Amino acid sequence: MFIALVAIVYIPVQVMAWGQQGHRISGQIADSYLNPKARKAIQGILGNESIAMASNWADFIKSDSTYNYLYNWHFVNFDKVMTEPEMEAYLKVDTIADAYTKVTFLTAELKKKTLSAKNKLLYLRMLIHIVEDIHQPLHTGHLSDKGGNDIKVLWMNNPSNLHSVWDSQLIDFQQLSYTEYVAAINHTTAAQRAEWQKAPLTHWLYESNQLAQKLYADIKPDEKLSYRYNFKYIETVNQQLVKGGVRLAGLLNQIFG
Ligand code: ADE
Ligand code: ZN
Ligand code: ZN
Repeated sequence: MFIALVAIVYIPVQVMAWGQQGHRISGQIADSYLNPKARKAIQGILGNESIAMASNWADFIKSDSTYNYLYNWHFVNFDKVMTEPEMEAYLKVDTIADAYTKVTFLTAELKKKTLSAKNKLLYLRMLIHIVEDIHQPLHTGHLSDKGGNDIKVLWMNNPSNLHSVWDSQLIDFQQLSYTEYVAAINHTTAAQRAEWQKAPLTHWLYESNQLAQKLYADIKPDEKLSYRYNFKYIETVNQQLVKGGVRLAGLLNQIFG
């Protein structure tokens, strides 16, 4: 009875990121596009931890208050509708701790030869995770509803929220292991990868925010989401998982290659 009660109390306060599967999928996809030099350097930092498994560290440590300062690194909120130039101008003067400023910071730090082994590991795990997170559209959503966490919905008749549907539920609904999922969706051409990778970080966020706006416009509070919603959006989910992985590989190749 006590255990059941704890479970009931705790489920609604979970505020996570692409769920574990989403992160592993994008991480494994990134791994498949590393150049040999980057792969070797990353192995030197992560040891036997694969990129797929390293991808979830930033969510696991949320249980330890030592790491509370990392909480805002997982998302960038945009409460106003912005054109791409408006978003670029906004981000250029952004100084708060968010996914944009931290991806920029972590990229610069990881390029430094003088970085301590401890920070190399922390920064690499965080960079991997955040690049994946920002491809979940609702990690670039409104602050006012916590990226959709406050938009209650039913998923297959169970209480959930819009953010969680996009972090986990659509992905888990496919009932694939993360390696099966990667095998199913990791089909890209070199030209496609080059196009995705050459776009700047501001464009990754713009694209993700454009999708977030579509999702906000297409939801009503307490809406019942099921097979129809899955059918409508699973391609978008998969595209964002692949893009996140491809862009993460591009960034890691640039840092370590
Ligand atoms: N998770 C918790 N708060 C969030 C927010 N404001 N935006 C996106 N994801 C979140
Ligand atoms: Zn996260
Ligand atoms: Zn999330």
